[in-house]
Amino acid sequence: MAKMWAGRFSKEVDSQVNDFNSSVSFDSRMYKQDIKGSIAHSVMLASCGIIGQDEAKQIVIALDQIKKDLESGALQIDPNAEDIHMFIEQVLTERIGDVGKKLHTARSRNDQVALDLRMYLRDEVKSVVKLLKQLAETMCKLADDNLETVMPGYTHLQRAQPITFAHHICAYAEMILRDISRLQDAAKRMNLSPLGSGALATTTYEINRQMTADLLGFDGITANSLDGVSDRDFCMEISSALSILMVHLSRLSEEIVLWCSWEFKFVELDDAYATGSSIMPQKKNPDVTELIRGKCGRVIGDGMTLLSMMKNLPLAYNKDMQEDKEAIFDAVDTAKLCLKTLIPMLDTMTVLKDNMYKAAQRGFINATDCADYLVKKGLPFRDAYKITGALVARCIELNTVLEELSIKEYKKACSLFDKKVYEAVNLLNCLNGRKIDGGPAPQCVKAEIEKIRQKLAE
Ligand code: ARG
Repeated sequence: MAKMWAGRFSKEVDSQVNDFNSSVSFDSRMYKQDIKGSIAHSVMLASCGIIGQDEAKQIVIALDQIKKDLESGALQIDPNAEDIHMFIEQVLTERIGDVGKKLHTARSRNDQVALDLRMYLRDEVKSVVKLLKQLAETMCKLADDNLETVMPGYTHLQRAQPITFAHHICAYAEMILRDISRLQDAAKRMNLSPLGSGALATTTYEINRQMTADLLGFDGITANSLDGVSDRDFCMEISSALSILMVHLSRLSEEIVLWCSWEFKFVELDDAYATGSSIMPQKKNPDVTELIRGKCGRVIGDGMTLLSMMKNLPLAYNKDMQEDKEAIFDAVDTAKLCLKTLIPMLDTMTVLKDNMYKAAQRGFINATDCADYLVKKGLPFRDAYKITGALVARCIELNTVLEELSIKEYKKACSLFDKKVYEAVNLLNCLNGRKIDGGPAPQCVKAEIEKIRQKLAE
Protein backbone atom coordinates (compact mmCIF):
# COMPACT_ATOMS: atom_id res chain seq x y z
CA MET A 1 0.00 0.00 0.00
CA ALA A 2 1.37 3.43 -0.96
CA LYS A 3 1.87 5.69 2.01
CA MET A 4 -0.58 8.56 2.38
CA TRP A 5 2.38 10.82 2.94
CA ALA A 6 4.33 9.41 -0.08
CA GLY A 7 4.20 12.77 -1.93
CA ARG A 8 7.52 14.04 -0.64
CA PHE A 9 9.39 10.77 -1.04
CA SER A 10 11.18 9.40 -4.08
CA LYS A 11 11.27 5.76 -3.02
CA GLU A 12 9.43 3.32 -0.82
CA VAL A 13 10.29 2.96 2.79
CA ASP A 14 12.55 0.04 3.67
CA SER A 15 10.41 -2.92 4.70
CA GLN A 16 12.29 -3.36 7.97
CA VAL A 17 11.67 0.32 8.76
CA ASN A 18 8.05 -0.10 7.80
CA ASP A 19 7.64 -2.88 10.37
CA PHE A 20 9.65 -0.97 12.92
CA ASN A 21 7.56 2.12 12.45
CA SER A 22 4.21 0.40 12.47
CA SER A 23 1.97 0.44 15.52
CA VAL A 24 -1.07 -1.21 13.99
CA SER A 25 -0.41 -4.53 15.75
CA PHE A 26 -1.15 -2.85 19.08
CA ASP A 27 -3.14 0.28 18.33
CA SER A 28 -5.85 -1.47 16.30
CA ARG A 29 -7.68 -2.03 19.58
CA MET A 30 -8.57 1.69 19.41
CA TYR A 31 -10.54 1.30 16.15
CA LYS A 32 -13.86 2.15 17.82
CA GLN A 33 -12.53 5.34 19.36
CA ASP A 34 -10.83 6.27 16.10
CA ILE A 35 -14.03 5.90 14.14
CA LYS A 36 -16.07 7.72 16.75
CA GLY A 37 -13.59 10.60 16.77
CA SER A 38 -13.55 10.78 12.97
CA ILE A 39 -17.34 10.85 12.83
CA ALA A 40 -17.47 13.74 15.29
CA HIS A 41 -14.72 15.53 13.37
CA SER A 42 -16.50 15.24 10.03
CA VAL A 43 -19.84 16.33 11.53
CA MET A 44 -18.08 19.37 12.98
CA LEU A 45 -16.30 20.13 9.67
CA ALA A 46 -19.67 20.16 7.90
CA SER A 47 -21.31 22.25 10.57
CA CYS A 48 -18.54 24.82 10.18
CA GLY A 49 -18.92 24.78 6.40
CA ILE A 50 -15.44 23.33 5.83
CA ILE A 51 -16.82 20.27 4.02
CA GLY A 52 -20.32 19.77 2.59
CA GLN A 53 -23.13 18.28 4.67
CA ASP A 54 -23.62 15.56 2.05
CA GLU A 55 -19.90 14.82 2.17
CA ALA A 56 -19.98 14.47 5.93
CA LYS A 57 -22.97 12.17 5.59
CA GLN A 58 -21.09 9.92 3.15
CA ILE A 59 -18.10 9.83 5.46
CA VAL A 60 -20.19 8.98 8.52
CA ILE A 61 -22.07 6.19 6.73
CA ALA A 62 -18.85 4.73 5.37
CA LEU A 63 -17.11 4.92 8.77
CA ASP A 64 -20.05 3.17 10.42
CA GLN A 65 -19.84 0.46 7.78
CA ILE A 66 -16.08 0.08 8.33
CA LYS A 67 -16.76 -0.43 12.03
CA LYS A 68 -19.40 -3.07 11.28
CA ASP A 69 -17.13 -4.82 8.81
CA LEU A 70 -14.23 -4.86 11.26
CA GLU A 71 -16.51 -6.37 13.89
CA SER A 72 -18.02 -8.98 11.59
CA GLY A 73 -14.63 -9.91 10.20
CA ALA A 74 -15.62 -8.81 6.66
CA LEU A 75 -12.76 -6.32 6.86
CA GLN A 76 -9.37 -7.46 8.11
CA ILE A 77 -6.80 -5.05 9.46
CA ASP A 78 -3.79 -4.88 7.17
CA PRO A 79 -0.77 -5.82 9.30
CA ASN A 80 1.42 -3.70 7.03
CA ALA A 81 -0.56 -0.53 7.73
CA GLU A 82 1.31 2.16 9.61
CA ASP A 83 -1.28 2.46 12.33
CA ILE A 84 -5.01 2.12 12.89
CA HIS A 85 -5.63 5.78 12.01
CA MET A 86 -3.98 5.47 8.58
CA PHE A 87 -5.64 2.13 7.96
CA ILE A 88 -9.16 3.40 8.55
CA GLU A 89 -8.61 6.51 6.47
CA GLN A 90 -7.14 4.43 3.67
CA VAL A 91 -10.13 2.06 3.64
CA LEU A 92 -12.49 5.03 3.76
CA THR A 93 -10.85 6.55 0.69
CA GLU A 94 -10.87 3.23 -1.14
CA ARG A 95 -14.57 2.96 -0.46
CA ILE A 96 -15.87 6.48 -1.11
CA GLY A 97 -13.08 8.04 -3.18
CA ASP A 98 -12.23 11.72 -3.05
CA VAL A 99 -14.74 12.54 -0.30
CA GLY A 100 -12.85 10.21 2.02
CA LYS A 101 -9.72 12.26 1.43
CA LYS A 102 -11.44 15.26 3.02
CA LEU A 103 -11.81 13.68 6.46
CA HIS A 104 -8.34 14.62 7.61
CA THR A 105 -8.88 18.35 6.90
CA ALA A 106 -7.89 20.47 9.91
CA ARG A 107 -6.64 17.45 11.80
CA SER A 108 -3.34 15.69 12.40
CA ARG A 109 -2.60 12.20 13.57
CA ASN A 110 -1.02 13.88 16.56
CA ASP A 111 -4.28 15.23 17.92
CA GLN A 112 -6.10 12.18 16.56
CA VAL A 113 -3.99 9.68 18.50
CA ALA A 114 -4.13 11.80 21.67
CA LEU A 115 -7.91 11.87 21.32
CA ASP A 116 -8.28 8.13 20.68
CA LEU A 117 -6.07 7.22 23.59
CA ARG A 118 -7.97 9.45 26.02
CA MET A 119 -11.28 7.96 24.89
CA TYR A 120 -9.94 4.41 25.05
CA LEU A 121 -8.53 4.86 28.54
CA ARG A 122 -11.69 6.59 29.71
CA ASP A 123 -13.63 3.38 28.97
CA GLU A 124 -10.92 1.18 30.43
CA VAL A 125 -10.77 3.14 33.68
CA LYS A 126 -14.52 2.70 33.98
CA SER A 127 -14.21 -1.05 33.66
CA VAL A 128 -11.33 -1.21 36.16
CA VAL A 129 -13.41 0.84 38.62
CA LYS A 130 -16.34 -1.53 38.13
CA LEU A 131 -14.10 -4.48 38.97
CA LEU A 132 -12.69 -2.64 41.98
CA LYS A 133 -16.21 -2.07 43.28
CA GLN A 134 -16.91 -5.78 42.92
CA LEU A 135 -13.72 -6.58 44.76
CA ALA A 136 -14.53 -4.19 47.60
CA GLU A 137 -18.03 -5.66 47.86
CA THR A 138 -16.57 -9.19 48.00
CA MET A 139 -14.33 -7.98 50.82
CA CYS A 140 -17.32 -6.49 52.65
CA LYS A 141 -19.12 -9.81 52.36
CA LEU A 142 -16.11 -11.66 53.74
CA ALA A 143 -15.92 -9.13 56.56
CA ASP A 144 -19.64 -9.45 57.31
CA ASP A 145 -19.19 -13.19 57.78
CA ASN A 146 -16.18 -12.75 60.03
CA LEU A 147 -17.04 -9.91 62.38
CA GLU A 148 -16.27 -12.14 65.35
CA THR A 149 -13.53 -14.26 63.81
CA VAL A 150 -10.66 -13.56 66.19
CA MET A 151 -7.19 -13.67 64.71
CA PRO A 152 -3.85 -12.34 65.80
CA GLY A 153 -2.95 -8.97 64.33
CA TYR A 154 0.73 -8.73 63.41
CA THR A 155 3.54 -6.24 63.41
CA HIS A 156 6.94 -7.39 62.10
CA LEU A 157 5.02 -10.59 61.26
CA GLN A 158 5.03 -11.27 65.01
CA ARG A 159 1.73 -11.82 66.79
CA ALA A 160 0.84 -8.46 68.33
CA GLN A 161 -2.74 -7.75 69.40
CA PRO A 162 -6.12 -9.36 68.84
CA ILE A 163 -8.14 -8.31 65.81
CA THR A 164 -10.74 -10.03 63.66
CA PHE A 165 -10.52 -11.29 60.13
CA ALA A 166 -13.20 -8.73 59.26
CA HIS A 167 -11.01 -5.92 60.55
CA HIS A 168 -8.05 -7.26 58.57
CA ILE A 169 -9.93 -7.62 55.28
CA CYS A 170 -11.57 -4.20 55.67
CA ALA A 171 -8.10 -2.66 55.75
CA TYR A 172 -7.75 -3.89 52.17
CA ALA A 173 -11.20 -2.60 51.26
CA GLU A 174 -10.05 0.87 52.38
CA MET A 175 -7.06 0.61 50.02
CA ILE A 176 -9.39 -0.37 47.19
CA LEU A 177 -11.59 2.67 47.92
CA ARG A 178 -8.54 4.88 47.57
CA ASP A 179 -7.59 3.11 44.33
CA ILE A 180 -11.04 3.86 42.96
CA SER A 181 -10.77 7.50 43.93
CA ARG A 182 -7.28 7.84 42.41
CA LEU A 183 -8.44 6.34 39.10
CA GLN A 184 -11.57 8.47 38.99
CA ASP A 185 -9.53 11.54 39.76
CA ALA A 186 -7.10 10.79 36.92
CA ALA A 187 -9.99 10.04 34.57
CA LYS A 188 -11.61 13.36 35.38
CA ARG A 189 -8.42 15.30 34.62
CA MET A 190 -7.99 13.32 31.40
CA ASN A 191 -11.49 14.08 30.13
CA LEU A 192 -10.60 17.10 27.98
CA SER A 193 -10.55 16.90 24.20
CA PRO A 194 -7.22 17.54 22.45
CA LEU A 195 -8.88 17.41 19.02
CA GLY A 196 -8.21 20.60 17.10
CA SER A 197 -4.67 20.90 18.43
CA GLY A 198 -3.66 19.69 14.97
CA ALA A 199 -0.05 18.67 14.52
CA LEU A 200 0.99 21.13 17.23
CA ALA A 201 -0.30 24.61 16.37
CA THR A 202 -4.02 24.08 15.65
CA THR A 203 -5.23 25.09 12.20
CA THR A 204 -6.23 28.09 10.12
CA TYR A 205 -9.66 26.60 9.44
CA GLU A 206 -12.40 27.95 11.66
CA ILE A 207 -13.16 24.69 13.42
CA ASN A 208 -15.32 24.29 16.53
CA ARG A 209 -13.37 22.39 19.15
CA GLN A 210 -16.11 22.65 21.73
CA MET A 211 -18.51 20.92 19.37
CA THR A 212 -16.34 17.82 18.90
CA ALA A 213 -15.63 17.80 22.63
CA ASP A 214 -19.38 17.81 23.35
CA LEU A 215 -20.12 15.17 20.72
CA LEU A 216 -17.50 12.89 22.25
CA GLY A 217 -18.53 13.35 25.87
CA PHE A 218 -15.60 15.44 27.06
CA ASP A 219 -15.92 17.95 29.89
CA GLY A 220 -14.07 20.57 27.87
CA ILE A 221 -11.09 21.14 25.58
CA THR A 222 -7.36 21.19 26.29
CA ALA A 223 -6.13 24.77 26.64
CA ASN A 224 -2.84 24.67 24.71
CA SER A 225 -2.29 22.92 21.40
CA LEU A 226 1.34 21.98 22.11
CA ASP A 227 0.25 20.43 25.38
CA GLY A 228 -2.76 18.87 23.70
CA VAL A 229 -0.61 16.71 21.42
CA SER A 230 2.35 16.08 23.70
CA ASP A 231 0.71 15.50 27.06
CA ARG A 232 0.78 11.92 28.27
CA ASP A 233 0.27 12.75 31.95
CA PHE A 234 -2.97 10.84 31.79
CA CYS A 235 -1.07 7.66 30.88
CA MET A 236 1.44 8.22 33.67
CA GLU A 237 -1.29 9.03 36.17
CA ILE A 238 -3.37 6.00 35.32
CA SER A 239 -0.33 3.76 35.37
CA SER A 240 0.70 5.19 38.75
CA ALA A 241 -2.76 4.56 40.13
CA LEU A 242 -2.65 1.02 38.70
CA SER A 243 0.81 0.43 40.16
CA ILE A 244 -0.44 1.39 43.61
CA LEU A 245 -3.49 -0.81 43.11
CA MET A 246 -1.23 -3.71 42.11
CA VAL A 247 0.90 -3.13 45.22
CA HIS A 248 -2.28 -3.55 47.26
CA LEU A 249 -3.29 -6.72 45.43
CA SER A 250 0.24 -8.01 45.81
CA ARG A 251 0.29 -7.41 49.57
CA LEU A 252 -3.02 -9.23 49.94
CA SER A 253 -1.69 -12.01 47.73
CA GLU A 254 1.41 -12.33 49.85
CA GLU A 255 -0.77 -12.72 52.95
CA ILE A 256 -2.94 -15.33 51.26
CA VAL A 257 0.18 -17.27 50.26
CA LEU A 258 1.23 -17.23 53.92
CA TRP A 259 -2.26 -18.07 55.17
CA CYS A 260 -2.43 -21.08 52.84
CA SER A 261 0.79 -22.54 54.27
CA TRP A 262 0.67 -25.30 56.88
CA GLU A 263 2.48 -22.88 59.17
CA PHE A 264 -0.60 -20.62 59.22
CA LYS A 265 -3.51 -22.56 57.71
CA PHE A 266 -5.84 -19.58 58.13
CA VAL A 267 -7.62 -20.07 54.82
CA GLU A 268 -8.31 -22.79 52.30
CA LEU A 269 -8.64 -21.91 48.64
CA ASP A 270 -11.39 -23.50 46.61
CA ASP A 271 -9.99 -26.29 44.44
CA ALA A 272 -10.95 -24.30 41.36
CA TYR A 273 -8.54 -21.55 42.40
CA ALA A 274 -5.50 -23.59 43.39
CA THR A 275 -3.13 -25.82 41.49
CA GLY A 276 -1.14 -28.97 42.10
CA SER A 277 2.48 -29.94 41.70
CA SER A 278 3.73 -32.15 38.88
CA ILE A 279 5.76 -34.26 41.32
CA MET A 280 4.55 -33.71 44.88
CA PRO A 281 1.09 -35.26 45.27
CA GLN A 282 0.34 -33.49 48.55
CA LYS A 283 0.67 -29.98 47.11
CA LYS A 284 -2.11 -27.45 46.74
CA ASN A 285 -0.45 -24.27 45.60
CA PRO A 286 -1.78 -20.70 45.70
CA ASP A 287 -0.49 -19.98 42.19
CA VAL A 288 -3.10 -17.33 41.50
CA THR A 289 -1.92 -15.13 44.32
CA GLU A 290 1.73 -15.74 43.47
CA LEU A 291 1.05 -14.65 39.90
CA ILE A 292 -0.71 -11.49 41.06
CA ARG A 293 2.32 -10.75 43.24
CA GLY A 294 4.55 -11.32 40.20
CA LYS A 295 2.40 -9.29 37.82
CA CYS A 296 2.61 -6.34 40.20
CA GLY A 297 6.25 -5.99 39.12
CA ARG A 298 5.17 -5.97 35.52
CA VAL A 299 2.66 -3.14 36.01
CA ILE A 300 5.25 -1.10 37.93
CA GLY A 301 7.58 -1.76 34.98
CA ASP A 302 4.99 -0.41 32.54
CA GLY A 303 4.87 2.77 34.62
CA MET A 304 8.67 3.05 34.47
CA THR A 305 8.49 2.63 30.68
CA LEU A 306 6.12 5.58 30.43
CA LEU A 307 8.04 7.85 32.77
CA SER A 308 11.41 7.21 31.18
CA MET A 309 9.96 7.37 27.66
CA MET A 310 8.59 10.87 28.36
CA LYS A 311 11.30 12.40 30.46
CA ASN A 312 13.52 13.92 27.74
CA LEU A 313 11.00 14.69 25.05
CA PRO A 314 10.99 18.20 23.65
CA LEU A 315 7.61 19.66 22.70
CA ALA A 316 5.53 18.66 20.93
CA TYR A 317 4.80 15.23 19.46
CA ASN A 318 7.71 12.81 19.07
CA LYS A 319 7.51 9.31 17.71
CA ASP A 320 8.86 7.99 21.00
CA MET A 321 5.34 8.55 22.25
CA GLN A 322 4.06 5.69 20.15
CA GLU A 323 5.63 3.52 22.86
CA ASP A 324 3.02 4.77 25.32
CA LYS A 325 0.38 2.38 24.07
CA GLU A 326 1.90 -1.02 24.74
CA ALA A 327 2.89 0.09 28.22
CA ILE A 328 -0.43 1.56 29.29
CA PHE A 329 -2.45 -1.19 27.54
CA ASP A 330 -0.40 -3.85 29.31
CA ALA A 331 -0.85 -2.14 32.67
CA VAL A 332 -4.62 -1.93 32.22
CA ASP A 333 -4.96 -5.46 30.80
CA THR A 334 -2.85 -6.94 33.57
CA ALA A 335 -4.70 -5.16 36.38
CA LYS A 336 -8.04 -6.24 34.93
CA LEU A 337 -6.91 -9.83 34.54
CA CYS A 338 -5.68 -9.93 38.14
CA LEU A 339 -8.94 -8.45 39.45
CA LYS A 340 -11.08 -10.84 37.43
CA THR A 341 -9.23 -13.80 38.91
CA LEU A 342 -8.89 -12.51 42.44
CA ILE A 343 -12.56 -11.63 42.99
CA PRO A 344 -14.01 -15.15 42.59
CA MET A 345 -10.99 -16.61 44.38
CA LEU A 346 -11.72 -14.49 47.46
CA ASP A 347 -15.41 -15.16 47.12
CA THR A 348 -14.92 -18.94 47.30
CA MET A 349 -12.12 -18.95 49.88
CA THR A 350 -12.85 -20.75 53.17
CA VAL A 351 -11.82 -18.94 56.32
CA LEU A 352 -10.55 -21.43 58.91
CA LYS A 353 -11.86 -19.61 61.94
CA ASP A 354 -10.73 -22.21 64.50
CA ASN A 355 -7.16 -22.04 63.29
CA MET A 356 -7.19 -18.28 63.50
CA TYR A 357 -8.53 -18.46 67.03
CA LYS A 358 -5.90 -21.02 68.04
CA ALA A 359 -3.19 -18.78 66.66
CA ALA A 360 -4.66 -15.89 68.63
CA GLN A 361 -4.32 -17.92 71.81
CA ARG A 362 -0.58 -18.26 71.30
CA GLY A 363 1.86 -15.37 71.16
CA PHE A 364 0.70 -13.34 74.15
CA ILE A 365 -1.37 -10.94 72.07
CA ASN A 366 -3.17 -9.99 75.30
CA ALA A 367 0.01 -8.79 77.02
CA THR A 368 -0.82 -5.12 76.36
CA ASP A 369 -4.21 -5.72 78.00
CA CYS A 370 -2.52 -7.28 81.01
CA ALA A 371 -0.33 -4.19 81.37
CA ASP A 372 -3.35 -1.92 80.88
CA TYR A 373 -5.10 -3.81 83.71
CA LEU A 374 -2.34 -2.71 86.10
CA VAL A 375 -2.45 0.84 84.72
CA LYS A 376 -6.15 0.98 85.49
CA LYS A 377 -5.20 -0.03 89.08
CA GLY A 378 -2.99 3.07 89.29
CA LEU A 379 0.43 1.84 88.14
CA PRO A 380 2.35 3.99 85.61
CA PHE A 381 2.32 2.29 82.17
CA ARG A 382 6.09 1.74 82.00
CA ASP A 383 6.08 -0.13 85.35
CA ALA A 384 3.07 -2.17 84.27
CA TYR A 385 4.84 -2.93 80.98
CA LYS A 386 7.91 -4.23 82.82
CA ILE A 387 5.92 -6.46 85.18
CA THR A 388 3.94 -7.91 82.28
CA GLY A 389 7.13 -8.58 80.37
CA ALA A 390 8.38 -10.60 83.32
CA LEU A 391 5.06 -12.46 83.43
CA VAL A 392 5.37 -13.37 79.77
CA ALA A 393 8.87 -14.69 80.40
CA ARG A 394 7.49 -16.72 83.32
CA CYS A 395 4.71 -18.15 81.11
CA ILE A 396 7.28 -19.20 78.53
CA GLU A 397 9.28 -20.88 81.29
CA LEU A 398 6.18 -22.73 82.51
CA ASN A 399 4.97 -23.41 78.97
CA THR A 400 1.66 -21.70 79.59
CA VAL A 401 -0.23 -18.55 78.56
CA LEU A 402 -1.48 -15.49 80.46
CA GLU A 403 -5.03 -16.85 80.44
CA GLU A 404 -3.89 -19.93 82.36
CA LEU A 405 -1.14 -18.64 84.60
CA SER A 406 -2.02 -19.20 88.27
CA ILE A 407 -3.17 -16.29 90.42
CA LYS A 408 -0.25 -17.10 92.72
CA GLU A 409 2.19 -16.32 89.92
CA TYR A 410 0.33 -13.11 89.13
CA LYS A 411 0.38 -11.95 92.74
CA LYS A 412 4.05 -12.85 93.05
CA ALA A 413 4.74 -10.47 90.15
CA CYS A 414 2.58 -7.67 91.52
CA SER A 415 0.25 -7.44 94.49
CA LEU A 416 -2.25 -5.34 92.50
CA PHE A 417 -3.38 -8.45 90.59
CA ASP A 418 -6.58 -10.21 91.60
CA LYS A 419 -8.85 -12.76 89.88
CA LYS A 420 -10.31 -10.04 87.67
CA VAL A 421 -7.12 -10.22 85.62
CA TYR A 422 -8.51 -13.30 83.87
CA GLU A 423 -11.31 -11.17 82.46
CA ALA A 424 -8.78 -8.57 81.35
CA VAL A 425 -6.72 -11.09 79.41
CA ASN A 426 -9.68 -12.97 77.96
CA LEU A 427 -9.24 -12.70 74.18
CA LEU A 428 -12.82 -11.79 73.42
CA ASN A 429 -12.77 -9.09 76.07
CA CYS A 430 -9.50 -7.77 74.67
CA LEU A 431 -11.12 -7.58 71.27
CA ASN A 432 -14.44 -6.13 72.37
CA GLY A 433 -12.65 -3.56 74.49
CA ARG A 434 -11.09 -2.02 71.38
CA LYS A 435 -14.22 -0.20 70.40
CA ILE A 436 -12.61 3.06 69.33
CA ASP A 437 -13.56 4.33 65.84
CA GLY A 438 -11.46 2.40 63.34
CA GLY A 439 -10.87 -0.40 65.83
CA PRO A 440 -11.45 -4.17 65.63
CA ALA A 441 -14.48 -4.53 67.96
CA PRO A 442 -17.28 -6.10 65.92
CA GLN A 443 -19.60 -3.08 66.19
CA CYS A 444 -16.83 -0.78 64.91
CA VAL A 445 -16.06 -2.99 61.92
CA LYS A 446 -19.77 -3.32 61.23
CA ALA A 447 -20.02 0.45 61.06
CA GLU A 448 -16.94 0.55 58.84
CA ILE A 449 -18.45 -1.96 56.41
CA GLU A 450 -21.57 0.17 56.20
CA LYS A 451 -19.50 3.24 55.33
CA ILE A 452 -17.53 1.31 52.71
CA ARG A 453 -20.77 0.18 51.11
CA GLN A 454 -22.10 3.74 51.14
CA LYS A 455 -18.98 4.92 49.32
CA LEU A 456 -19.30 2.08 46.80
CA ALA A 457 -22.87 3.12 46.06
CA GLU A 458 -21.88 6.76 45.34
N1 ARG B 1 1.01 5.80 15.47
C1 ARG B 1 1.35 7.08 16.00
C2 ARG B 1 1.36 6.99 17.53
O1 ARG B 1 0.93 6.00 18.03
C3 ARG B 1 0.37 8.08 15.53
C4 ARG B 1 0.89 9.48 15.47
C5 ARG B 1 1.88 9.64 14.40
N2 ARG B 1 2.16 10.98 14.09
C6 ARG B 1 3.14 11.31 13.31
N3 ARG B 1 3.33 12.54 13.06
N4 ARG B 1 3.96 10.40 12.82
O2 ARG B 1 1.79 7.85 18.25
